Amino acid sequence: MNGRERMLAAAGGRTTDRPPVWLMRQAGRYLPEYRKLRETHPFWEMVKTPDLAVEVTLQPIRRFGMDAAILFSDILTIPDAMGIDIHFSEEGPVLSRQITSQTEYRSLKEVEISEAFDYVRRAVCKLCCELHPHTAVIGFAGAPFTLAAYMVAGKPSQDLDQIRMLADKEPDLYHALAGRIADTVTGLLRLQIEAGADVVQIFDTWAGRLSEDEYRRLALPYSRSIIEGLRGTGVPIILYLRNSGTHLDAAAASGCHTLSIDSTLEIATARARLNPKIALQGNFDPDLLHQPPEIIRQKVRAGIRSSRGGGYIANLGQGLNPQSPIDGVAAFVQAVQEGGA
Ligand code: CP3
Repeated sequence: MNGRERMLAAAGGRTTDRPPVWLMRQAGRYLPEYRKLRETHPFWEMVKTPDLAVEVTLQPIRRFGMDAAILFSDILTIPDAMGIDIHFSEEGPVLSRQITSQTEYRSLKEVEISEAFDYVRRAVCKLCCELHPHTAVIGFAGAPFTLAAYMVAGKPSQDLDQIRMLADKEPDLYHALAGRIADTVTGLLRLQIEAGADVVQIFDTWAGRLSEDEYRRLALPYSRSIIEGLRGTGVPIILYLRNSGTHLDAAAASGCHTLSIDSTLEIATARARLNPKIALQGNFDPDLLHQPPEIIRQKVRAGIRSSRGGGYIANLGQGLNPQSPIDGVAAFVQAVQEGGA
């Protein structure tokens, strides 16, 4: 099996010779070659220039040989296309506007997918040329709830106060916004699939902080509508949740092929609770990468053993960060490539 076959099989719920491996945020500031390019190119220029986005996507593949490459882009390309300016501060993204009223909502730009995301289509096409047939290409987008949370608060919000208040006081506005984002996400993922993406991942980073009832009202219907909209493509869809334990069963009801979980939940526990047709992805703690290679190997072996019983993709429970050690990433990828044996 090559990496692409392994990734497609595992994401589709089938068992593989060994688990495919890739890491969330595998492109980025922990790599000196990324930081070097970043010295001369602003973040959005790198995202929107296909040659640069492809180069950055390939950097970790050249170094570590993962089975799949995730397009270098960001979940905030959607608010960007809707006319909101985004910059990054020490605390994370800062959006130029907050969508807290009907007036603000109506002022959002209508997104013409093929025009607004032509840079994404070109980058994915080029990536597929570079990587197929050996390595899988992963497309992605943010989930409507997580994107709405950014667009309403204008920044990351741990407690989700603003989005909760909006959904409570102005449910029509919340549902109009989430529905509009869901349509745009469906279009963006379809564009990536048509350009050659083998698998797509929907990031619902903030939804794990909702109560189960809120998750079922505010997040699940929109993830589900995206997944239904893409069913005809036959491409496996991965749904990522952070703090996934509480919503495991609800998230599985989205119709996703693979659930990506973080390290607050054991893989074996998730496996026991879910329909065996649903594949799992995750869920190593990024802190593990700071351990000596032997410990990394032991933990990877144990993790792979505990994943038995269905499709499984080795990954972290959340993204690499700028402090992640390169040697740790190398040891992690290698340990999975050795088959966890
Ligand atoms: O390698 C990859 O994983 C592909 C690229 C990718 C980026 N962002 C690049 C990026 C992906 C898949 C994302 C997803 C993303 N973006 C999420 C969901 C995943 C998660 O971590 O929960 C979220 C919530 C965002 C929003 C976002 N974009 C934040 C919070 C930040 C700033 C904080 C940070 O981690 O740097 C960004 C900026 C960003 N996106 C960078 C990168 C490499 C750093 C920008 C820089 O170089 O200055």
